[in-house]
Order: sequence, then structure tokens, then C-alpha cells
Amino acid sequence: MKYLPVCLFTRPDALIACGMIFASLAAASLAVPAAKAATAPAPIVLTGADRRPATSLNGEWASVIDPYFSGLFSFHHEEKSNGWFTNQKAKPGDPFPTEVDFSKAPKLKVPGDWNTQRESLLYYEGPIWYERDFTYQPKEHTRVFLHIGAANYHSWFWVNGKKVCEHEGGYTSFNCDVTAAIHAGDNFVVAAVDNTRAEDNVPTLQTDWWNYGGLTRSVSLIEVPDEFIDQYDLHLSRTKASVIEGWIHVEGSKPGATVAVEIPELGAKTTAQIGEDGRAAIRIEAKQLERWSPETPKLYKVELRAGEDSIDELIGFRTIETRGTEILLNGKPIFLRGISIHAEAPYRTGRANTEKDVDTLLGWAQELGCNFVRLAHYPHDEAMLRAADRMGILVWSENPVYWALQFDNPKVLAKAERQLDEEIGTSRNHAAIILWSMANETPNTPARTTFIETLASRARSLDPTRLITAALLIRGEGTTKIIDDPLGKALDVIGFNEYIGWYEQHPETADVTAWRIDYDKPVIVSEFGGGAKAGLHGAETERWTEEYQANIYRHQFGMLNRIPQLRGMSPWVLMDFRSPNRPLAGIQDEFNRKGLISDQGEKKQAFYLLQKAYKEKTVGKPE
Ligand code: GCU
Repeated sequence: MKYLPVCLFTRPDALIACGMIFASLAAASLAVPAAKAATAPAPIVLTGADRRPATSLNGEWASVIDPYFSGLFSFHHEEKSNGWFTNQKAKPGDPFPTEVDFSKAPKLKVPGDWNTQRESLLYYEGPIWYERDFTYQPKEHTRVFLHIGAANYHSWFWVNGKKVCEHEGGYTSFNCDVTAAIHAGDNFVVAAVDNTRAEDNVPTLQTDWWNYGGLTRSVSLIEVPDEFIDQYDLHLSRTKASVIEGWIHVEGSKPGATVAVEIPELGAKTTAQIGEDGRAAIRIEAKQLERWSPETPKLYKVELRAGEDSIDELIGFRTIETRGTEILLNGKPIFLRGISIHAEAPYRTGRANTEKDVDTLLGWAQELGCNFVRLAHYPHDEAMLRAADRMGILVWSENPVYWALQFDNPKVLAKAERQLDEEIGTSRNHAAIILWSMANETPNTPARTTFIETLASRARSLDPTRLITAALLIRGEGTTKIIDDPLGKALDVIGFNEYIGWYEQHPETADVTAWRIDYDKPVIVSEFGGGAKAGLHGAETERWTEEYQANIYRHQFGMLNRIPQLRGMSPWVLMDFRSPNRPLAGIQDEFNRKGLISDQGEKKQAFYLLQKAYKEKTVGKPE
């Protein structure tokens, strides 16, 4: 050890230096040589986790900011075996200083991003530690999972100092088995969450939304019997009318065991046997079934049973498919009158995470006359999807493959696949979701196309009952816009973004713009629009005024009606949202101002223009 205590009593920072010496001495002496990263079982996906009884761990958690991650990594950057996750308390006579004490640390709310909870954290990107005490009484033949609604971006979890899981990806839920770590009485859970952006992340370095960090969605404890239903899929057959099909997977099951599904309201029930793969195939005749649709968002209580385990679900049954350039909902052509939405909380800003946030955002979409929303650019909270099921709002759900990922990096593909598995595994029974979007505005390169084709075929194998799409970039020749991105071949529905009148040309240019779409498939204009500061008025040629934004919309409607296979639209965007790319002082102030409503709920002129077009159905045709 090269630092002997000669420096002790000279300068105050020497004290700190001495502290480091002792810490390193202590670390060296106490800890076994810095162990390799403690491994923990991979978190699992639970379908309908929000339908299970749970012990909420939401509320105030102790928090410690750790920009250098010294709570987990030693000064030689090896993962520590006695890091801050041990929640160690200083004891008199300790031969080393304890430099973190969660019981004295300031609090952060969970669920919640940390950026909008403390001014000093608004721009913070890095690791933050969370700690929470809880009591628990274990039960026989019971497994316990720590359910995380979402943690942005990379997160580690320990219970009573024992590592229970590690996860990457900021927008999907995951479940860590804590059965072996939890005990009777007092327990504590420690989490480290790091929202540092990196090139090989999904999404990667650049996004046009704020990189809100933290435990951004609910955290709870879920108990299940030793044998339990982890995933299930129940949907209306596309080919056999009023037949509900699907499967139930039972973790820890014995082949030959029986599962049961019942829909009391329909007097429909069935049992099935579990196969070698833990799955039981389900088929139920449901003669009197009322199909789910925006007009009649009928949800049925569905009871699933397997051994000691049971889940009561709420599911709507509908079919979605394409026929040529049409999108058919329950066999009938439909036009998707939509809007794009970010999970930004109205009024208070930050990551949306309350029922109220959900009701406000979807309430505004319904007020606009929407039957469809594009939830951008990442999977949104289950609460949003439950509300869409209840309200009869069709959903485009998107995997955060956004802009230029490292498409030639197999590790990045594995991360995107993992997030897709979690998105589909968690949300597959929502009648509202009709489209799985694989990506947004990705560069047209062979590596990109292969990457997303791989994702698309994975999504099809995971869920053959829904449509696959993506938001493509367009190219232009003169006043003709062309959609010939080779990725279109892998999609059921072509989505594309265009900003005529904002990023290019003038609102009026839309009047003379022709479209060449090299696919005989349904098309959704997944983004168009322009920025406006709510309350700023002027000539319709004056950027940032409400008049300019409205003028863009006015000219878009005419153009869109000239696209023969247009079957939907989701203008950008319902509400202004925080973005680090938008510094224009006095106008944007770090908000993307393309909302039809400001973050403070002020409706702009274009809101009423689109509302009128949707109510009078003057834009778009189902067939
Ligand atoms: C892009 C992108 C959005 C972005 C929008 C904009 O098309 O998909 O995420 O916010 O344009 O520039 O406002």
C-alpha cells in the first residue's frame, strides 16, 4: 500500500485522503479480493403482474447520488462484494469509516424520475442508489418476486445485501426472484439505477426526449405458489369465429398437470393439460361473445387457474389483420384517427406514472376524436394500456429502437430482443394494442434492415395475432415523396414520418406534394406537425405561432387525403414534452413544442382543427 498516513494532520482534504487510505485499507483488509461481478438469476417476465395481489413498495426511498459509482465499483473498477448494497451502518470502534448511511439520506419518490424531483438532478445522468426497509412474513410453498414497473436505464437490485437481479432497458417491467434473500421480519431492498447513455444502449446516445432516470414506475412484492402462471396469451381466432385460442405457461409445472380457464359472463370454460414445455394450449367456444372495439370496448373477466395459482384478468376479444391496403378490425375496414403521445406527465412534467396522468393524456386524445394513439417511442406503463382497453382506444406500441443504434453489434440486437420479449410478454393480452412497432426513423443501411427484420420475425413468432410496423424515413425527388425503404418488406403496415412545412419547405408545399409508395400495404403517417408556443399569435407565416402550426395541419389534411392507401395517422404530438435538443429560449426552453396542447394544458389552434377533422371524418378513409 503506497499511501502511509503521513499526511494525516496537515490539510483538511488530507483527512479525506486519509479516509480513502483507510477505506482502501479497510476494503483490502475486510473484503475478500474484489470478487467478480456477483451473478444473480435473470429477471423474469410476468404477464398481467398488475392483476396479482401485491405489497406496494412505492413511496419515499432513501437516495444517494453516486456519479463515480464508487458504491459498486472499487478504485480499480472491480465490482465490490461489500458495496453500498450491504446497507452497512457504522459501529463504534469500526476499523474503517462507513461513508454512506441510507437512514440519513434524502428521499426520492418511487415511482418517479429523479430529474423533476430535485432541481439539482434535472440534468443528472449517472448512478443513484435507492434504499427502502420493509417487513415481511414468508409463507410455505411460496415464491416472492420484486416487481419493477420500469427502471431507467441499467439497474441492480439487492435484498438484505444479496444480489437478486440486474436489468438493462428503461421502459419494460421485470421481476426478480427474492425468495432466497427475503426473511421474516425486517428486510431492506437496495437498488442502483444508472441512466448514463451509451452507444451500445437501446435507445442509444441521441433521443429527442429527456433521459428521465430512476425507478420510474411502481415497485412491489408479488407472491406466487411454487408452481405459477408466468405468461399467458388469450385472443380471438382470426379464422374460427367466436373461438378464443391461446396458451398458458406454468413455471415449475409438471407435464400432464391441468390448467383451467373460465369466462363466467359467457358461461364458457375449459381445461387443458400442460406439456413438456410447461405450456397448455387453450381453446374455448364463446358463442355469445361481444367483440371489443372503440365503439364497444367490452372487457370480460377471465379466470385462469393452475394448481394453487390463479389470476383474474380483464380481456377484450377482437381480431386485427390486413387485407391488401386495408386494416380490418373485427373483419371491417377501419381508419385510425390518432395522435402520438410521450409518457410525459401533464402539468408537473417528468415521467408519467399516475392514473391521473393516464386519464388526462388519453382523455385529451378522446376529446380530439381519436380512436387510436401511437405510444412513442418506448413501451408505456401497463396503466396506460389498461385505460386504452377500457376507453376503446387502439394502440401502436413501440420498442425503443430509435434513430442510429449500433445495428451491427450482436450485443445490441440481444438487448433489443430482450426488451421486445418483455414488452410483448407483459402486454400481449391488451385488446387495445393492434400494432407492434419495431423502430423509429432508423437509417436505411443493410445492417439496420437485417437487425429489424430479425426483430420483426421474433415479434411474429412471439405474437402472430397482431400487425408489425415501424416508422420509416422518406426520401424525395422534387415534389414527389418516395417510400421505398427495403425494411417495408418486413412490415404488415408501413409507418412513415414527414415534416413538410416544418423541417422542410412550407406548409403550402403539401398542396403540390405527390406520393410514391412502393408497397401495396396499409400506410400510417406516424408523424407530421410543427412547433408552436401556446399563446403566441401572429401571421400564419410566422414560425412558432399557433397560426403557423394550424396552417401546417390545414395543408396536411388535403395532401393526406390524396394518399390512396392511407389508413391512419398519428400527428406529432399530443402534448409538449421535455427534450434536451430544444434550447430556444422563450419559446422552447427545453421542451419540444410540437404539442397540440402545452405541458400546462393550454390547447393550441391546431388542436381544434384536428378535432373538427376527426369529428367530421373529413380526413382519411377506411377503404
Ligand atoms: C422525429 C422523431 C421524434 C421527434 C420529432 C421532432 O421525427 O421521431 O422523436 O421528437 O421528429 O423532431 O419533433
